[in-house]
Amino acid sequence: MNCHILTLFPQMVLDGLRTSILGRAEEKGILSLEAVNIRDFSENKHNRVDDAPYGGGAGLVMQPGPVYSAYRSVADKLSKKPRVIYLTPQGRVFNQSMAEELSKEEDLIFLCGHYEGIDERVLEMIVTDNISIGDYVLTGGELAAMVVIDSIARLVPGVLHNDESAEFETFHDSLLEYPQYTRPEEFMGKKVPQVLLSGHHGNVDKWRREQSVIRTAKARPDLLAKAEITEKEKELLKTLDFQKEI
Ligand code: ADE
Repeated sequence: MNCHILTLFPQMVLDGLRTSILGRAEEKGILSLEAVNIRDFSENKHNRVDDAPYGGGAGLVMQPGPVYSAYRSVADKLSKKPRVIYLTPQGRVFNQSMAEELSKEEDLIFLCGHYEGIDERVLEMIVTDNISIGDYVLTGGELAAMVVIDSIARLVPGVLHNDESAEFETFHDSLLEYPQYTRPEEFMGKKVPQVLLSGHHGNVDKWRREQSVIRTAKARPDLLAKAEITEKEKELLKTLDFQKEI
């Protein structure tokens, strides 16, 4: 997969993404990360890429010309018109199934805005998907692009090692992940649950599944509505009184 990021802060995006697992994937040739500096396509001698909004109002708006040229510098090299993702709080809220769908694309362009946004005309011309990472406002699209790219890239085959598999984890089956423990067996008086030391895989699986269901019910009851839970698990939830813990 090739991620092309159109941004005014290429170093920020590359430094963040190349740390750790995605950097390793890039070295292995499974993933490529390219940051294109929109400022390189400025159309004036001061290297400016923004101007005051028509109609008045606060802040500056990114001009369409540099954004379009930055886009063309990537799109012209590709054989197929790529999806162009604009990071904006006005977009569809990102989730795991969107990550799964996007991870199947060969090339993706991410467009990061700054200031008061980007001239609407160029957005109409090039953007295929508007994505938000949540109902809050960031100073720019870079952090949002990094979040989206990280979650997409880790689903590309080979990016994670087998033992980091993305298959059985939080949001698998719309359930949150069960709690994990490692050595030591006792930490500041707190013991690892006995069942995990028992070596009985059936009981371990049963306990983990129950923990997933309970955690989801406590923290994200909205997800539980989408999950497939058994009658027995529903009964289990009825026996727990979450109010006491709040
Ligand atoms: N740009 C600014 N805020 C954002 C958000 N919440 N999601 C995506 N892009 C953004």
